[in-house]
Amino acid sequence: MCDTQATQPEIKVATGDRAILPEGAKTIPIYVMGKKYEVPETLTIMKAMEFAGFKFLRGAGCRGGICGACPTVYRMAGDYKLHFGLACQTVVEADMYLAQIPFFPANRASFNINEMSAAADAIHALYPEIFRCVACNQCTKACPMDVKVLDYISATKQGEIAKAARISFDCIQCGLCSSRCLGEIPQYHVAQLARRIFARYIQPQAEHLRLRAEEIEAGKYDQMLDELSTMNTEDLESRYVNEREREPDMAAPGSWQPQDSRYL
Ligand code: FES
Repeated sequence: MCDTQATQPEIKVATGDRAILPEGAKTIPIYVMGKKYEVPETLTIMKAMEFAGFKFLRGAGCRGGICGACPTVYRMAGDYKLHFGLACQTVVEADMYLAQIPFFPANRASFNINEMSAAADAIHALYPEIFRCVACNQCTKACPMDVKVLDYISATKQGEIAKAARISFDCIQCGLCSSRCLGEIPQYHVAQLARRIFARYIQPQAEHLRLRAEEIEAGKYDQMLDELSTMNTEDLESRYVNEREREPDMAAPGSWQPQDSRYL
């Protein structure tokens, strides 16, 4: 009988915020702000930088490609072309020259969504710079989420808010599009406004959500939240780990409900 556990080398994986190196991992050179570091070739940019000694106070959030906090620009040695990616998702390559741009100072308009309408005029008034677009498409090329940025800006210019909202749905607000724009357009803020107008005025309201919002406003959860917020850590852990009713693994959708249905 083949004992695979005995013959397979143990592979440790990088977990949490610190990298654990697989035995014999090869290292490669990368350059962070012009300084060379040798890092394991299996790591993401974020973990490679932490391996090199950097500590992320800004420029890291979810670590899962969702929050948009870690946009990174890089170039490969000997090549003029700029590349774009998320530090938490992109694996390092030898001779990467890296710079993080966790914040880009793009113009962001102020508005009250409840005083607007589904007409595109409002977006045009708040962000007239979208008409400076020269369709160079650098915004789309810079997007680490492969959002067709130029397409949603064009849709917005043409008054197609629903189309702009749909095309921009995967935007994570990292701002790399704006950093490349010749017209200095804050594309990601424009997209967010289009999605808010879409959700507020175009998309039919979800009835179950309306009912739940009413329950919250009526105070259905106030007592429970007050109780939880005054519990100490030990009791909270016990409530969560020992007393909580758990959905069985692999339960078919809709087939399970907790016995305590007070807060459903
Ligand atoms: S840390 Fe959130 S997208 Fe990278």
